[in-house]
Amino acid sequence: MKFFIDSANMNEIKQAQELGVLDGVTTNPSLVAKEGADFHERLREITSLVSGSVSAEVISLDAEGMIREGKELAAIAPNITVKVPMTVEGLKAVRAFSEEGIKTNVTLVFSANQALLAARAGASYVSPFLGRLDDIGQNGVDLIGTISEIFDLHGIETEIIAASIRHPQHVSESALQGAHIATLPYKVIEQLTKHPLTDIGIEKFLSDWQKSQAGV
Ligand code: E4P
Repeated sequence: MKFFIDSANMNEIKQAQELGVLDGVTTNPSLVAKEGADFHERLREITSLVSGSVSAEVISLDAEGMIREGKELAAIAPNITVKVPMTVEGLKAVRAFSEEGIKTNVTLVFSANQALLAARAGASYVSPFLGRLDDIGQNGVDLIGTISEIFDLHGIETEIIAASIRHPQHVSESALQGAHIATLPYKVIEQLTKHPLTDIGIEKFLSDWQKSQAGV
């Protein structure tokens, strides 16, 4: 399973990039709004730093508007993936993008049928939202497993991005259920690196080393 960062913040993206495990970036209108940056300018900054897929979401609700916006976004850099909401109009846009060779990420996926439709429309990626499903008392990780099984059974090559990840358990469980990618907030990336026994172990090694050096 690969790692994307779910952020439009340049410091977070740079820090994740320095870890050497970053394969791409996802953004959404809420994340971009939080930054207060010009959308296209920020995408230029991100794509000049990260060579993997960078998802940029369209705002229009009709297929025609989505296609127009998506083409403008795709023209910013070759690694832009156009993020399209899972709606009837979104599916029409995904089909048009796929015929033009523009990569797409179908977002706001909450059911296996939505994922299957998106894949059949030609989506490069589908993004099931785990955390938001958990929030309403459904099991987000189970949905990853179901989509993965269906895609395997039917030889579908669309990649599954586990999205709306809230904590490290979501990450390992998504990997087990067959997600190809997990897109993580920076806070979760940091959490993944930590274990209290690692810190205790380092402290003990250092103190033993220092004690041994005192007698040399
Ligand atoms: C993914 O592409 C979405 O931007 C994101 O994971 C949504 O997460 P949220 O439910 O925490 O807003």
